[in-house]
Amino acid sequence: MIQLTNIQKSYQDGEGQLNHVLRDVNLNIDKGTFIAVKGPSGSGKTTLLSLLGTLLQPDSGSYRFNGMEMTAPGINYADIRHKQIGFIFQDHRLLPQYTAWENILLPALAYRSQVRKEDIEYARLLLELTRITPVAKQYPHQLSGGESGRTAICRALIMKPLLLLADEPTGQLDAENAKNIGSLLVDINKTLHTTIVLATHSNDLASLAHTIIELRNSPFEGGQGDVRNPSPFEGGQGDVRNPSPFEGVREMY
Ligand SMILES: Nc1ncnc2c1ncn2[C@@H]1O[C@H](COP(=O)(O)OP(=O)(O)OP(=O)(O)O)[C@@H](O)[C@H]1O
Ligand SMILES: [Mg+2]
Repeated sequence: MIQLTNIQKSYQDGEGQLNHVLRDVNLNIDKGTFIAVKGPSGSGKTTLLSLLGTLLQPDSGSYRFNGMEMTAPGINYADIRHKQIGFIFQDHRLLPQYTAWENILLPALAYRSQVRKEDIEYARLLLELTRITPVAKQYPHQLSGGESGRTAICRALIMKPLLLLADEPTGQLDAENAKNIGSLLVDINKTLHTTIVLATHSNDLASLAHTIIELRNSPFEGGQGDVRNPSPFEGGQGDVRNPSPFEGVREMY
């Protein structure tokens, strides 16, 4: 599903010197694989996830995602990110003015004026899967760190992405909540067959993945994972429901 070939990425440091963060990165990720990216601070984990998520472009090399060359001209990155890639960040980045339930549905509303029945049903399923149904009506400041992380995971999954990118999603959590998020990612990978790339400093979290990649600021080869069946949750058309985005939605939880 993903092939990185001879990827190079450098940044200019404050003195104008080039800092070669990724050199000759070659990595294949098969659909349904769970990959952990480890490495010391500054080794390029976030840079690699940003490239995979098309938030950054490589200086050179090829990035094929789901059969498409992402370095080719004319690619609609915003559309690909919206429909095919889910992101979870360390600070979760929930919008404070919306409830957990609304935060989860926001991506489904990004290009639409109405919430579809299909999205509502899928959001409910995600709430169950992540065990946060009881707190769905609460605002981000009323959620625990673990609940906020699980809300962010639901939001990242609402569009049924092919790829879930998680950049240190447990960095701000205690050991128990970190463990829960880790087992949730394993569940998601097994149940929804979502391909996951997780950046983490934690050996415990990384050990849950099929393959661990170590970044050391030097050329490396990535691992191969299993090919799994496509997600059973794909497809389906929903009805048009409410005239305005959140009308009637808040009341549902
Ligand atoms: N926008 C930028 N401009 C210049 N240098 C950058 C930029 N972003 C990252 N870097 C540098 O690139 C290197 C890799 O950064 P990156 O954030 O990918 O590391 P990381 O492995 O995610 O680290 P951490 O574990 O601390 O999150 C670092 O030396 C960083 O200073
Ligand atoms: Mg980072």
